[in-house]
Amino acid sequence: MAQYKVQRSNTLFNSELRVPGDKSVSHRSMMFAGLSNGTCEIKGFLPSEDCVATLEAMRGMGVTIEADATSDVGFGPTTFQVTGRNGILAPPNKAIDCGNSGTTMRLMTGLLAAQRFDTTLTGDASLTKRPMGRVVTPLSQMKANIETQGEGGCAPLFIRGKALVPIIYEMPVASAQVKSAVLLAGLATEGKTTVAQPITTRDHTELMLRCFNVNILTEGNHISIEGGQTVEARDFLVPGDISSAAFWLVAAAAQDGSRLTIRDVGLNRTRTGIVNVLRRMGATITETSQPQEGEPIGSLEVRGSGLQATEIGGEEIPNIIDELPILAVAGALASGTTIIRDAQELKVKETDRIHAMVTNLRAMGADVEERDDGMIITGGRTLQGAKVHSFGDHRIAMAFAIAGLFADGETIIDNTACVNTSYPGFEATLQDAIAGKLH
Ligand code: S3P
Repeated sequence: MAQYKVQRSNTLFNSELRVPGDKSVSHRSMMFAGLSNGTCEIKGFLPSEDCVATLEAMRGMGVTIEADATSDVGFGPTTFQVTGRNGILAPPNKAIDCGNSGTTMRLMTGLLAAQRFDTTLTGDASLTKRPMGRVVTPLSQMKANIETQGEGGCAPLFIRGKALVPIIYEMPVASAQVKSAVLLAGLATEGKTTVAQPITTRDHTELMLRCFNVNILTEGNHISIEGGQTVEARDFLVPGDISSAAFWLVAAAAQDGSRLTIRDVGLNRTRTGIVNVLRRMGATITETSQPQEGEPIGSLEVRGSGLQATEIGGEEIPNIIDELPILAVAGALASGTTIIRDAQELKVKETDRIHAMVTNLRAMGADVEERDDGMIITGGRTLQGAKVHSFGDHRIAMAFAIAGLFADGETIIDNTACVNTSYPGFEATLQDAIAGKLH
């Protein structure tokens, strides 16, 4: 089983990096191009296991997807010509395997509920334990016919596609996946569908559908879509994933004197909360944006000066939900007491991330108190190399690889194959960091 062995890296960062394409944007680019009325060129796609699950699902429903082999930078092609089916997909000849990907399963459920054929969506051991009621409930209110075949309302999901009715839905959880599932169902439903989110969540679905010329109205936290609109084919550039950049931003921020620039990374305001948190923790971060239509893109330069504790909670949580594992590591490396609260959602990610972080940080000698909605980390103790678990979760594996760069002795992270669900190429950059090549 793949594992990482990490030693303390004493060299400062003084380098430039690019990270692979944004996971959320890559999923949506393939779905929207596949629903479009022509041929779209998608560049910068993330060829990770999660996004390839979405790609294969669209291909299995009759979307023509051709990879440009010359765009392969070592872990799969990143440029694709996608010819959409103008909103009407073809029935797949087998169940759709969403693998480990919650985004594939939840967005596909919305998309397929209004197609006129039946589908089964399934996934791996982690995904078939994650809550699906959060999408099944609003879609059922739209009169969708979805059977949850797993225990406790979980996947596999059997969807009998049919005509739906529009609704106004107040989401009880701040989830971009739920919002997107309802909007995608609304796109294929006559009338106006509205979703109200309790707190702003990532807005890629709204922003990207607008790029594909679909009219979506955002009034505060109410988002509405009129059904029956054409998704107009266009080319799309996927920016680098700020959630992948986060690991290196924290590594550089935690080392006094380090300087690291991440180029061509997504700077969508609903995703840049990590920059604000790291600034509060003492990092100097300069943002430079490049003008482009679609998702904002630019570079981030971080100058490290050691970290101070902060409190993380409230409305910023959805913005940094995927960065909380590495921010917990930042808390352990910071002086003072870092509090993470209002983050109950961490319990229903690829693993229970509160439990996973607390277990591993403790194994490395950190002082951490587990809370139902987060944790309290008293930083300042030198981390000790230890054997820790990925819990099959990509972000846990990567967060502890970074922790290992700051620990005495050797840190071994087991079962690291899961990193390929979001960040193929992470290990190569990690090896460069250990070898002091990011100087
Ligand atoms: C995602 C939304 C978030 C995030 C996930 C990707 C998306 O989940 O954690 O990695 O692409 O919409 P929730 O919407 O469930 O919070």
